Amino acid sequence: MSKDFLGIKDLDKNAIMTIIELAKQKKQEIFNNSFRKKILKDKTLVTLFYENSTRTKISFSVAGQYTGMNVSDLDVATSSVQKGESLIDTAVTLDQMGINYIILRHQQTGAPHLISKYVKASVINAGDGSNEHPTQALLDFFTIYEKKSSFKGLNVTIIGDINNSRVARSNVIGLKKLGANVTFSGPTTLLSKGMEVLGAKVSYDLKDAIRNADVIMGLRVQLERQSGMFPSLREYANIYGISSDLFTLAQKEAILMHPAPVNRGVELTSELVDSSASVINDQVTNGVAVRMAILELLQFGGF
Ligand code: NCD
Repeated sequence: MSKDFLGIKDLDKNAIMTIIELAKQKKQEIFNNSFRKKILKDKTLVTLFYENSTRTKISFSVAGQYTGMNVSDLDVATSSVQKGESLIDTAVTLDQMGINYIILRHQQTGAPHLISKYVKASVINAGDGSNEHPTQALLDFFTIYEKKSSFKGLNVTIIGDINNSRVARSNVIGLKKLGANVTFSGPTTLLSKGMEVLGAKVSYDLKDAIRNADVIMGLRVQLERQSGMFPSLREYANIYGISSDLFTLAQKEAILMHPAPVNRGVELTSELVDSSASVINDQVTNGVAVRMAILELLQFGGF
């Protein structure tokens, strides 16, 4: 049992299902203060985000508060990071204060894995470059399970900037373990044929990729991670944007997901984001529940 939570790569199917089952219980605590068990009372959590975030950062903070923890945010922009302090020195400094959880988001692949070796605290990966975003994938699995009851044989299509997406990577690794079929779709500039090695089918034909899907997940174009030239967002929207019309090609009860932030009118039309097929808001709530479950399991064992 590891003290850290670094990637879906490290989890087997049973561990994923254990988190989902506990998250189901935790969900009750979100909107009902009296259900909150404060099971991590007197523990301390710090969020350390070197990249922007709304959902992931705040949901870790509230998950920490709902489980009874003291929560602080190290605002990287006003911290000694700006004076040149290294990531390792920053993490060791927090560790010396007796912090129990360091939640790290960093632009560099492997950053959480690196600091986990230097600190006694549990390190949780909140997104490392384009490598993994394991808690996002777990909230996605929880949401799919809630809506579809099983993963076996489910067709999940992920559309957009696959090459740069830690969300797509963590999702495909876990969904394959859970027995789902995954298809990646997007323009050749954002989806290399080589992505097939992760176990997904690669399709450059959007209609084909949407046809018969049970779950459709849109992704934001990661403009901050483009190495080469990226054609305009308008051009992307015209060719790979998902509209309500395209969505009708999917299975009758298909659901629409997106890790957010959504650029309305680019990867998804606004109408589709607000449609009854969209579970994007459920994903946000489930993100808190999943993070509460992970924080608890790391403290008491269970993976
Ligand atoms: C994603 C991320 O940061 O990787 N968002 C998130 O965590 N909810 C995806 C994105 O930023 O596009």
